[in-house]
Amino acid sequence: NHDTVVLELLASDGQMSRYEIGQQAQAAASIGQGHIMHAIGGHGRSLWLKVMRRFLGGRLEDELVMLNTAMTGFRGNATAGIEQALAEITRSIQLELDWNCERAFMDKGVKYYHEALPGLRSAQVVQALPQDRPVVLIMENIEGGTLQSWIQREVTGVDAPDEACEGARLLKAAFSVWSTEALLRSGFFHGDPHAGNMMFHYSAENKTGALTFIDFGNSIDVDDPVSGLTKQVVFLVFGTLLKSPKLALRAFRIQNEATECRLACELDEAWKKAESATWWQYGAAAA
Ligand SMILES: Nc1ncnc2c1ncn2[C@@H]1O[C@H](COP(=O)(O)OP(=O)(O)O)[C@@H](O)[C@H]1O
Ligand SMILES: [Mg+2]
Repeated sequence: NHDTVVLELLASDGQMSRYEIGQQAQAAASIGQGHIMHAIGGHGRSLWLKVMRRFLGGRLEDELVMLNTAMTGFRGNATAGIEQALAEITRSIQLELDWNCERAFMDKGVKYYHEALPGLRSAQVVQALPQDRPVVLIMENIEGGTLQSWIQREVTGVDAPDEACEGARLLKAAFSVWSTEALLRSGFFHGDPHAGNMMFHYSAENKTGALTFIDFGNSIDVDDPVSGLTKQVVFLVFGTLLKSPKLALRAFRIQNEATECRLACELDEAWKKAESATWWQYGAAAA
């Protein structure tokens, strides 16, 4: 009928499974939307389908043509920075629209995060369709809700303290695995690990929780993490702690000496201004 769609999925072992998908989306996503796929015939678990909005690829192409036309009158040294920023933004949007890439990153999420510590998980992808240029990602349907909604919810009852402790333990576990993996091991990291991109579920019977990474669209893979990432983070942190703009700026690739001087002055001023400020004003000034 018009309210549901039935999808047949052929698994690699040759087994065909049927699923019912409601027209109504369960979650609106920025570049797509999410639907639950209910298994028909009681053969197993439900799945999650993330589908890309139509025409996004075409719209990006059109906007790039317009931007490039607008830029042609302004080429030269003065706009080199803008051009580079534009190229980087374009590349990151193209990557976000490339769901074969997202699928590969989800596989890496499973490889590096899944069960790295008890209860820590990463969403497992089942299929990306169509294979050459996917606009649909089918993955496991994660129990619970986003960590964001859990934080905002008032947790009551006798289990509340246990549940809160389990949430805190898992958030620490997620940060620890995420940062260690990025800085000291593979160089892979989920690029957008906010509370809306993690799912949390607590089982009161077992007194255990599960925290699952989802949405790997903005992930990054650094070849040599120690020289390509860790060193820069160390410069930034120690430069900030020691209030040395020169040291902090070594975290960035600044080719122009005049720019470096200007940034150093701005940073120095921001830090001075922030001395009497609260920590959050300090954070905003530093940003
Ligand atoms: N595998 C999943 N199982 C259950 N819910 C999910 C799953 N993946 C995403 N969601 C829900 O859909 C929302 C948006 O999905 P997400 O992949 O983060 O899209 P976007 O790229 O737009 O941020 C999430 O915040 C979550 O509520
Ligand atoms: Mg998201």
